[in-house]
Amino acid sequence: MKILLFGGQGQLGYEVMKRARDLDFEIVSPVLTEVDITDEQQVKKCVSSIKPSVVVNCAAYTAVDRAEHEQEEAFKVNRDAAGYVAEACRDSGCRMIHISTDYVFDGSLGRPLAEDDPVNPLSVYGRSKYEGEQRVLESLGREALVIRTQALFGLKGVNFVHSMLKLFPERASLKVVGDQIVSPTWAGWLAEVVLDCVRLPLAGVVHASCQGTVSWLDFARHIQELVRPFFKEPLAVIEPTTARELNRPAQRPAYSAFDTSRLTSLLGRPPISWQEGLRNYLQELGYAVQ
Ligand SMILES: NC(=O)c1ccc[n+]([C@@H]2O[C@H](COP(=O)([O-])OP(=O)(O)OC[C@H]3O[C@@H](n4cnc5c(N)ncnc54)[C@H](OP(=O)(O)O)[C@@H]3O)[C@@H](O)[C@H]2O)c1
Repeated sequence: MKILLFGGQGQLGYEVMKRARDLDFEIVSPVLTEVDITDEQQVKKCVSSIKPSVVVNCAAYTAVDRAEHEQEEAFKVNRDAAGYVAEACRDSGCRMIHISTDYVFDGSLGRPLAEDDPVNPLSVYGRSKYEGEQRVLESLGREALVIRTQALFGLKGVNFVHSMLKLFPERASLKVVGDQIVSPTWAGWLAEVVLDCVRLPLAGVVHASCQGTVSWLDFARHIQELVRPFFKEPLAVIEPTTARELNRPAQRPAYSAFDTSRLTSLLGRPPISWQEGLRNYLQELGYAVQ
């Protein structure tokens, strides 16, 4: 089965590519300098010449705070280009798996979010991703699957775990937000889910995150507890702060845990816990955590 992957150099795309090769999928992943997905003609030419069975779109504009003042760029990649990829898939008769985000929600419900819960993005990034989902679903109907995920950590690029591991030995203290609840999700696990979805004729929207919820604050404390034995130097004292005090340009949902029952029934197994995902990730980084 031939996969065309956009965004294969990114955090999730890298894990998808690595696992696809291990699982003997035929996978082609042009880099940004070869195919810029905001160029409609390049996208069309690429899809029609490669003739994949499935296109996986992990490419996105992901600078959540910067998007607040780079609105045009965010919409170009996350909405318009997602639409170009979907149209190229429709023209070439192939399926598309598109990755989206919990930031389409405002997080005010205070309970795990189902696929059909009302969206209300709080940020430019969230709006651009939601409009991208819509373009993909409108163009492709039953030939599109949108996988919403959240709080990713993987080997490529910068993520929360990576930042904590860097800052723990550098800083005397660190302030971390205690009033935003997420389900931290290991990109390695999600990549396996994406590849399972490549094999199955799935459509619509599905929520895919690791199981369990935690605040960023407690997540940081948990990471520190696991890695402390591997550092000689004292590690930063973790102190609580609030989203309001941090005052980042883009507003984030306060509670974005997913109801993952659709994913569980489609794949026949529940997601792994975020703790298991974190252990696997730290082991990949060389920390011999139990
Ligand atoms: N990271 C998270 O916590 C998170 C949470 C929820 C949902 N998501 C979603 O998950 C997906 C993957 O996220 P990620 O963290 O893996 O993102 P990422 O690390 O920022 O990777 C994004 C990739 O997209 C590529 N890209 C950007 N603009 C492009 C363009 N115009 N043409 C072609 N490629 C382009 C980038 O190329 P370069 O490397 O060359 O710039 C990069 O390889 C995205 O849809 C994101 O919205 C992420």
